[in-house]
Amino acid sequence: MDTKRKDCDIIIFGGHGDLSFRKLLPAVYHLYNDSHIDEKSRIIIISRQKMTLSGQKELVRKKLIEFLPKGEFDDEKSANFEKQLEYCKIDFNNKTDYKNLKKILDFFPKRDRVYYFSTSSDFYGKICENLHNSRLITKNSRVVLEKPIGLNLKSSKIINAKVLEYFKEQQIFRIDHYLGKDTVQNILALRFSNRIFMPLWDASNIDHVQITVAESVGVEERAGYYDEYGALRDMIQNHLMQLLCLIAMEPPCSLYANDIRDEKVKVLKSLRLLDTKDIELKTVRAQYIQGQIDGKIVPGYTQSKDLQDSKTETFVAIKAEINNWRWNGVPFYIKSGKRMKRRNSEIVIQFKSVPYSIFHNNGANISENKLVITLQPNESIQLELMNKVPGLSKHMKLQKVALELNNPINQKRKSSAYERLMLDVVLDNATLFMRLDEVEAAWKWADSIIEGWEQNSTPMRNYTAGTDGPSAAIELIARDGRSWHDECC
Ligand code: BG6
Repeated sequence: MDTKRKDCDIIIFGGHGDLSFRKLLPAVYHLYNDSHIDEKSRIIIISRQKMTLSGQKELVRKKLIEFLPKGEFDDEKSANFEKQLEYCKIDFNNKTDYKNLKKILDFFPKRDRVYYFSTSSDFYGKICENLHNSRLITKNSRVVLEKPIGLNLKSSKIINAKVLEYFKEQQIFRIDHYLGKDTVQNILALRFSNRIFMPLWDASNIDHVQITVAESVGVEERAGYYDEYGALRDMIQNHLMQLLCLIAMEPPCSLYANDIRDEKVKVLKSLRLLDTKDIELKTVRAQYIQGQIDGKIVPGYTQSKDLQDSKTETFVAIKAEINNWRWNGVPFYIKSGKRMKRRNSEIVIQFKSVPYSIFHNNGANISENKLVITLQPNESIQLELMNKVPGLSKHMKLQKVALELNNPINQKRKSSAYERLMLDVVLDNATLFMRLDEVEAAWKWADSIIEGWEQNSTPMRNYTAGTDGPSAAIELIARDGRSWHDECC
């Protein structure tokens, strides 16, 4: 991709939030210092707090030291970066506050503007309206919307419609940072640049697919946000659905944004909606209770301040099904949870067993082939195959071996998903962002689960922090005679 330098103003609403300090500012710091964005570009941090510019610069430096991976902070680079920082105090709902921003932006009226909304989606409409009334939305403006947009399809539609009153669809970048991860993009490369997978990628050859995103962290400082959303809205409706789409989609006719999005939307629209009976059998929701992670006691979810009465799920497992020709009868088991045993995100494509084993008389079991795509903590792609145990044994013995695809990284430093995506917004490339119909189709499916849960058709389970989740999740897949890939590790 063309990564020529481009100057722009990046305006971060929610600039003092967790995401901004942990991910956005470190990403922009690198883009700036690695000359992906022009050195004249400015980063304008917006927050409700009253603060001087020097106070702001000091705060950003402190947070960069805290959140940049070890060895990535550099005094000189930080000093250069700080020169480009601006600060603006805005109460999102107060239209007169936007005059302060206008003063800053009007220095370069023609420059590209990237408005990054790292706030609750409840504010998106109001911020757009105030930007518009202050004449801050130019034809060279773009807006980045963080997920989740709304709490369900209905609220998502209202928010998106409001944003669309002020920005055109081409100017709206709905971000899902999973799409910025290299291994996730590599799914497209793996599937569509290797012929060997082409004839195998369907219901005749694939038994089932598993998608797991397990985190060992809890909700940290984001309890207020998380408790309103829970694992289904925070992770499944967006990140896991995007992974599912990339695995299940048909080959797009090109890499252009809309061609890829067209194929993803078809998958989302083919997802079987869950009715009350399905909810009971095919979904599990649970909350963690006190346990141990890395030898340390961690409190249960409801032991945290203000969460005593919470009914929010921190773990979800679902058997998803896609009603189309390619995937009919192939379950996609997906799960995600906080405070699990270890951080582990992987996609497992399990192939069917051989039609007949000529080795069974030797007592040799043949394991099914698996393609295991690990996203976190380390990225890898492994194809599990059967192989002869070398040597002179009387009967031929078999063993499982993994062919590993190593992706050599030729860079000194591995860039983050947010760097990739921020740069794409600056370059006006929407390929890795979600279109309105994608978001809505994902909500429609998630709503079928939310509604079932609201009718209490499946109980809230518990799981001990530091484990693989509730036993009900194991039962969910065991009912079909299968097991989770990570259960054995
Ligand atoms: C965010 C969720 O979108 O993704 C967080 O809001 C979650 O709750 C995070 O922790 C996980 O991202 P990653 O890249 O660390 O897997």
